Amino acid sequence: VRTIDWVDGAVEIVDQTALPDVTRVLRLSTVEDLVDAIRRLAVRGAPALGVAGALGVALAARQYAADPARREAAVAAVQHARPTAVNLARGARRAAARLSAGRDAVLTEALRLRDEEIASSAAQGRLGADLVTELCGPAARLLTHCNTGALAAVVGGTALAAVAELHRRGALGGVVASETRPLLQGARLTAWELRQLGVPFRLAVDSAGPFLMARGEVDAVILGADRICANGDVVNKIGTYAHALGAQRAGIPFLVVAPESTVDTGTPDGAAVEIEDRGRDEVLEFRGTRTAPPDVDAVNPAFDVTPYDLVTAIVTDRRVIRLDKGERI
Ligand code: MRU
Repeated sequence: VRTIDWVDGAVEIVDQTALPDVTRVLRLSTVEDLVDAIRRLAVRGAPALGVAGALGVALAARQYAADPARREAAVAAVQHARPTAVNLARGARRAAARLSAGRDAVLTEALRLRDEEIASSAAQGRLGADLVTELCGPAARLLTHCNTGALAAVVGGTALAAVAELHRRGALGGVVASETRPLLQGARLTAWELRQLGVPFRLAVDSAGPFLMARGEVDAVILGADRICANGDVVNKIGTYAHALGAQRAGIPFLVVAPESTVDTGTPDGAAVEIEDRGRDEVLEFRGTRTAPPDVDAVNPAFDVTPYDLVTAIVTDRRVIRLDKGERI
């Protein structure tokens, strides 16, 4: 099953807010529905957001075919539905560049991006698995964060595609998945996917990562990115930076696997990236149950910046960039 696709004139997504309890497909027939799904994280993860952006423009081209002003506003709404992952705005812009050629041309471009992401995932899996074995040997014990599997892409994924490939090759010693507060992409989504893949894993609270590394239980950290800046800074789910510091202290590789579509040479460094703040409620409560006193304030950055000098290597679908050896984007 594809995480996101175009089916009979509408966008269909696997509803990631319902997993792991319920597996259901949402059919999104309007731009407004799609933007809402992006904001609620019903569809999420950088590569999937890129495809959502492009398919959102395909929806806009149909919905507002006779109203250019509203079409333009709808395209902008898709593009800015979430600010941090470069894939979303980039996917929307790429499809929007075909608007003057007509709605079929827009859809064709969006489906081309979908197909590129599918091919990209397999390549990332192969290159990522090769690098892990080169650095960690034939039974690597890996720690991953957030969700970088098929649910974050169209199929396959990024860092989790490499984990799955290592498992297929018999070269995986085990996985620690960190739960990824506050929305639990690790506990809900990565755990669900690893179980389906038959990969041996244990779940840990986010803050356990650096200690498990210090205790020698992790050979490398492997995770994805929402934006890779020109200087190699990596913007990814909040908690990534702590794992990178833990990896540096423990002297183990910190590996980032992402498609070329996440590499943004137009952004000089992490300080230039807008970090989405998702508001206090996600911190103060979980699924409607309050976990803090009612009058408490909260801060909720959804992403953080890992400076390039904490990153051992970035693996894309086309190349391995060894930042630790002085190679640059
Ligand atoms: O807020 P989310 O769930 O969209 O954040 C996703 C992440 O941070 C992923 O690690 C990133 O997009 C890489 S996806 C292959």
